[in-house]
Amino acid sequence: MRRANGAWRAVLGVALAAASMLAAAADGSGDLERGRALFYGETDLAAHLRGDPAPLPASAVRCINCHAKTSRGEAFAPPLTSDSLRTLSPRRGGPPTAYDRDAFCSALGNSIDVANVVFVKAMPQYVLSDSDCSALWAYLMTQ
Ligand code: HEC
Repeated sequence: MRRANGAWRAVLGVALAAASMLAAAADGSGDLERGRALFYGETDLAAHLRGDPAPLPASAVRCINCHAKTSRGEAFAPPLTSDSLRTLSPRRGGPPTAYDRDAFCSALGNSIDVANVVFVKAMPQYVLSDSDCSALWAYLMTQ
């Protein structure tokens, strides 16, 4: 009887885990968690410098390394929040522009911003799957 009990517990455990995974997928929180992990570099990102295909070390290309305010003042790179990305504003001397998911993902891959201005070389060029880029965008939209 004890063994049967254990088996049922195991079955119940698996069913509960599956249900919570389904719930996470349905409300998009799985994506948000993946996006957060990518932003903080807990999940490795593949990137290189513009014009140089040699891969950069994963520890050097975490978004948070550069896109964060520090106690010492302004961050080295622009903020990445829903407001900063989606509000019309002039970037790098270009006309006022705003990002959507597609413009964001293409900029990460080709270093050309939403106004067709090329990023400085310090902003790495990323090789990201479409779903990872969507997860990153979804996470930033909560910031
Ligand atoms: C090594 C530093 C560095 C890292 C790492 C980095 N960035 Fe950047 N990023 C920059 C700099 C510098 C700029 C400003 C480029 C310019 O003005 O030409 C920038 C600009 C951007 C912009 C343009 C913002 C705007 O308002 O036009 C986006 C979007 C962006 N980065 C996203 C990311 C994401 C997402 C990651 C991680 C996947 C990342 N960056 C990692 C340095 C970095």
